[in-house]
Amino acid sequence: MSEFKIIGTSVPRLDGMEKATGRARFVNDYDLPGHWLGGFVRSPVPHGILTGFDKDPAFDWSRVVFLTAADIPGRNFVHIVRDDYPVLTEKRVTYVTEVLALLAAPDEPTLRAALAAVRPRIDPLPAALTMEEGLEGRVKVWGEDNILDEYHVDCGDVKKGFSESDFIIEGTYETGLQEQMYLETQGAAAIPHPDGTLEIIPSLQCPFYVHNAVVQALGVPEGKVLIRQPVTGGGFGGKEDYPSMMAVWCGLLALKSGHTVKLVLDRKEDIEATPKRHPSKVYHRTGFKKDGTITAMEIDLLLNGGAYTTLTRVVLQRATLHAAGAYTVPNVKIRGRAVATNTPPTGAFRGFGAPEAFFAVERQMDRAAMKLGMDPLDLRLRNLIRRGDLFPFNQRLESGASAEAVLLRAAELSHYREKRARYEAERAQNKRIRHGIGLSIVMHGGGFTGSGEDNMGTTVRVEFRDGRFLVLASSVEMGQGSATILPMVAAETLGVGLDRVTAPPADTNHVPNSGPTVASRTTMFVGAATHDACQNLIGELTGFLSDENACPPSEIAFEEGTFSVGGRSLSILDAASACVARRGELSAEGTYKGPPTANPWDDRGFSGDAYKGYSWLATVVELEVDMDTYEANPIHTTAVAEIGRVIHPVLAAGQLAGGVLQSLGWAHIEDLTVRPDGAYSAAHMSSYLVPTTLDTPRWTIDTIEDPCPAGGFGAKGMGELPCNGSAPAFLSALDNALDVFAERAPATGEYLFELLEANQRIEAVAH
Ligand code: MTE
Ligand code: MOS
Repeated sequence: MSEFKIIGTSVPRLDGMEKATGRARFVNDYDLPGHWLGGFVRSPVPHGILTGFDKDPAFDWSRVVFLTAADIPGRNFVHIVRDDYPVLTEKRVTYVTEVLALLAAPDEPTLRAALAAVRPRIDPLPAALTMEEGLEGRVKVWGEDNILDEYHVDCGDVKKGFSESDFIIEGTYETGLQEQMYLETQGAAAIPHPDGTLEIIPSLQCPFYVHNAVVQALGVPEGKVLIRQPVTGGGFGGKEDYPSMMAVWCGLLALKSGHTVKLVLDRKEDIEATPKRHPSKVYHRTGFKKDGTITAMEIDLLLNGGAYTTLTRVVLQRATLHAAGAYTVPNVKIRGRAVATNTPPTGAFRGFGAPEAFFAVERQMDRAAMKLGMDPLDLRLRNLIRRGDLFPFNQRLESGASAEAVLLRAAELSHYREKRARYEAERAQNKRIRHGIGLSIVMHGGGFTGSGEDNMGTTVRVEFRDGRFLVLASSVEMGQGSATILPMVAAETLGVGLDRVTAPPADTNHVPNSGPTVASRTTMFVGAATHDACQNLIGELTGFLSDENACPPSEIAFEEGTFSVGGRSLSILDAASACVARRGELSAEGTYKGPPTANPWDDRGFSGDAYKGYSWLATVVELEVDMDTYEANPIHTTAVAEIGRVIHPVLAAGQLAGGVLQSLGWAHIEDLTVRPDGAYSAAHMSSYLVPTTLDTPRWTIDTIEDPCPAGGFGAKGMGELPCNGSAPAFLSALDNALDVFAERAPATGEYLFELLEANQRIEAVAH
């Protein structure tokens, strides 16, 4: 029997019905009488000097509102990590699609006519489009050297480590851009109210980030900016920063036009202009003993940040800290750098730098296994990080050390060893369809990096209104399940049914700041704050009952939703109703208070306890390759995770399957590059392919429970974890099927063809 009534059960998701029936309203569904439409004048060139705009005199410009940098009332930047991203370009244009001017018009035809009647005048400059060109520094994109940020991790003595090794393996691994492809594109609506309040409704992940950006750029007083969450149709990291820009642009148009304005991107503009996963290039040099033990690791990690910082600094931090993988290595040297180029700024995508880091380290382990003549599983088992071991950034893994447990379970469930040997043997038969199986082991640190969670001040308020408990937080439901998870935590703590609790969409006038919906932090940290708020609410009610009954609080007991006062029992609902009747309201706040940190994070030294808990995932991918077309299709994926306590098994399995699928898309079909003219190579769903249900493999999904002392009800962050592991497992399965070694993702059919040709292993194939 479980010690819980609701935690650990798969209740129907609370936002399910409104989404299934189409009742859910996304920004574009809002009926806003008399609203105008906004649009963008964007740069067609990657680098140049903006000298003005050519406006066709035949167009009646009095019918629209046209805004440039000179019209910005506040400061001309959107605050993300740095204040370097301009709302509108003043002079130097640094990437294709950069926003130079804004337009608003009363209807679509007028907007289109206006957009067609204006051209920016730009004197082009040479551009740095690749990471190599950015590093060369001949073209100045950002700062003096185009380095947006740089971090170092050093432990032990790598020189000594390499001298003690029997083999040194080197490799360089590359990954490409990835588009989040949320179902709902980026969009916002802004309403200028007569009392001076600017209400903005953006599809978002982080209401208070948006609030702050709008206050700074538009110079509207804090209390006069209201950010309201519509239903968010998926974010996957892509709505972490861009909604701040969207809200500022849309708010500016509303302020200047005096009309309600809707600004919604179509799919083409969304793909062309919004932030994506960083392209990466990671060099690994690893020393091994003959038995496979790693003696030293040297890693040089590079991310392409595009033209401005946006979230790159924090993505780079996570990439750098996850770069040595799930292994214990005595001597490690990591350099992580993000380089600026004349390409659209890259941002957050589920995994936040960790997938790029794991792709490289897991590929390196496979390469080493080939050279050492070991099975990739055995090489990993020899080096996995275990309880009591140190991460290279000097954090001791005290609890929740489950790398080995998940890896062994995944290998067993997938029949990895037997199949790996069988598929290798089958290669000699030259069949048209070949099979392969490969695996990976990854982890993900839950919550903000470093001291972020200690400093965030994560606050949740629980209120009793109209017979129900409301969980008020700035955390956003975007498909991942927070609108179900947080009420589950509250219902369990308060001892009431789930029908008595809801988590309404965030609205910055009414919710406390529980932080942004990022870094897989909601269940783990906001869940803990929700639990705390509920306990404080029970405390409030205890105080109320003590006053009412003139008895000391110590004589009032609370258990499973019932107060006992002097032999009488009273349900929490009755107590709450009585309290509201007497006092007019009942609410309580709670915060996140984690256990003390053993080795507090040191920002300057970039070392210490980087995360309060790590989730673990082993992924085994089994695929088939058509030797006529080089199409590789995953047919079965096994994912075994340790994510602390599993709060909702079905939602957890859904998170795992969805993230694994996104990672598989990145591994082989999601192909996006920057063309020589600085634009992306694809702008439609017909040319940028993401996995559909037809590309979905069969699943075996399993979890191992190990409640985490730092998380709400023992949960750990798991939303991003599944994006870290299937790309390297997919490429490992390609090794097994084809006897090639792919070093980059996406491993498209064309790339496989190239590799096979280089290996001269294309032979007549028996059909
Ligand atoms: N799942 C769905 N369905 N939709 C999303 O937008 N975003 C992912 C992940 N899972 C996302 C998702 C990302 S990038 C993060 S950081 C986490 O959910 C955030 O939610 P959590 O804190 O509740 O895990
Ligand atoms: Mo997730 S990439 O932290 O929004």
